Amino acid sequence: MVRYKVGIIVSSDKGSTGEREDKSGALIHDMVTEAGFEVASLKILPDDREKLSFEMVRLADALNVHLILTTGGTGFSLRDVTPEATRSVVDREAPGIAEAIRMHSLSITPRAMLSRGYAGIRGRTLIVNLPGSPKAVKEALEYIMVPLKHGIEILMGDAHDCATPLHDHHHHDHHGHGNHHK
Ligand code: MTE
Repeated sequence: MVRYKVGIIVSSDKGSTGEREDKSGALIHDMVTEAGFEVASLKILPDDREKLSFEMVRLADALNVHLILTTGGTGFSLRDVTPEATRSVVDREAPGIAEAIRMHSLSITPRAMLSRGYAGIRGRTLIVNLPGSPKAVKEALEYIMVPLKHGIEILMGDAHDCATPLHDHHHHDHHGHGNHHK
């Protein structure tokens, strides 16, 4: 079985100076490890567009990670530039992932509309922006994890179609069990 590699980037001025303990990067680390990925790198950077883009390029082109997950810097503060840093290094957009995160997150809090998170593909590396708080990271990543893996399989050429059944409760049917609930 292929173990996909993940690079994690925490965008946080306070985190990068040690002023605030990074909980979100560690949480992503634990969640992706649990999901069967291998964490190739975890860096905490200041909210600096150039530094963030440079790290994304390093992870994609030198480390050849399959997935880059960023956390933080997606909001409205003037220092929040993660979506812009991401947009400038991708060659294809993956809007559905950002839409899914916002759709699901909006069912939890209207403040989810304030995350400008973006997703796209650089070569064979998928890049996804997650919001900054551990709560938001958990809610968003949990929701996208399974389809995200399928997307990476397709990107890598490991899966050629979408015929794999989804293990999703919305798709459960109870065929063969009669129709006792009319
Ligand atoms: N998404 C989820 N799922 N849960 C949350 O609590 N918080 C929002 C939003 N997205 C939130 C969420 C808030 S309050 C903000 S300001 C934005 O994410 C941007 O966060 P960031 O600047 O830390 O990236």
